[in-house]
Amino acid sequence: MSQARNRTATTSTLAALPLPPRGPGAFSLDPSWDFLNHGSFGACPTVVREAQRRVNDELEAQPVRFLVRELPDRLDALRLRFGAWLGADPAGLCFVPNATTAVAAALSAAPLRPGDRILTTTHRYNAVRRALDVVAAERGAVVDEAPLPARVSDPAQLFAALFDRVRPETRLLVVDQITSPTALRLPVERICAEARARGLLTLIDGAHAPGHVPVDLGLMGPDWWLGNLHKWLCAPRGAALLWVAPAHRASTHHPVPSHGRDLGLHHEFDWPGTFDPSPWLAAETALALHEAWGGPALMEDHAELAASARALLCAALGVEPPVGEAPGLRCAMAALPLPLPPEAAMPLHHALHEACFELPVQGVLGGCWLRVSAFAAYNRLEQFERLAALLPGLVDRLRG
Ligand SMILES: Cc1ncc(COP(=O)(O)O)c(C=O)c1O
Repeated sequence: MSQARNRTATTSTLAALPLPPRGPGAFSLDPSWDFLNHGSFGACPTVVREAQRRVNDELEAQPVRFLVRELPDRLDALRLRFGAWLGADPAGLCFVPNATTAVAAALSAAPLRPGDRILTTTHRYNAVRRALDVVAAERGAVVDEAPLPARVSDPAQLFAALFDRVRPETRLLVVDQITSPTALRLPVERICAEARARGLLTLIDGAHAPGHVPVDLGLMGPDWWLGNLHKWLCAPRGAALLWVAPAHRASTHHPVPSHGRDLGLHHEFDWPGTFDPSPWLAAETALALHEAWGGPALMEDHAELAASARALLCAALGVEPPVGEAPGLRCAMAALPLPLPPEAAMPLHHALHEACFELPVQGVLGGCWLRVSAFAAYNRLEQFERLAALLPGLVDRLRG
């Protein structure tokens, strides 16, 4: 094959994709449901799925050329794009399929010795707690959980609740940027700065953060940070990022050892065995769409809608909002504890499904917590009004 032929057909077709206007029409969501759970798995716009299809078409035209000769350069270019967006040095940026993999990779490098303590919060994600238990058992470390306050009006309360539980043996803080069951946004920049000053390591679980709140890793300065791209950035599922500070790059390993083991972060993470890179490559279109729809303005619209939803639901149920409106607390989800026991979570969830509402209801933290997501491109205030009209009757029925 001549060199000229070798060079043909290697340019990505993604740049040519026209981006749709912001609105429900950009998604494929079933209109018979009130889909108020963007936070769990996102919802992937049709243009992003088209981008993924095009990546797969390019891949299938010459799988070896694509995977062996083109993919490394494409991932380098993608790292530059995402690094610029997140204020992150691309040398520390790795693509992973999900936040869970990123947590396992980061914990592989945590220099924990017998007797060391890991501090997280009572609002941490369950899968992350399980990963902490595994690493703690392996290294003889102990996991502590700082209880977060039931009512929060100032991010400083969250900061204080965490550092209140730091002990002399505490070595690593594992902190959510936005908590999953309770939608609390933690002041991670301040937490990382304080941790650095005290010689503590930080693993920031930003699973919910990309596309949801502004992220500047240069400013934050964590030891490890991770974020899902499939949630609020609307990338295909299978796209997430791990960022590693320079001091840990040689010791952080992909949980699956492969050809690139010990050859550097990008060698390890870019080839975790044969895989489908299309979610990562199509994430670039998701980022272009996020920016075309307003970027920071879109995120602010999500937060505004979530604040309205919280006010509506709290008024309907006659409960105090658990989270105030301080700028540092604003985010695109609102959670509230219902006047029900934890065991009511499952029947309430089912009752909401019967009425075609999709949102998580969980028996956690000793209560029954409901969470709504507000994705301003397709969620509308009327959906939260409908929920607010339905909920008091369902809660009364379950109180029995
Ligand atoms: C705070 C937090 N951490 C980690 C995860 C795990 O994400 P994944 O299932 O994509 O690995 C989630 C998922 O929702 C989460 O909310």
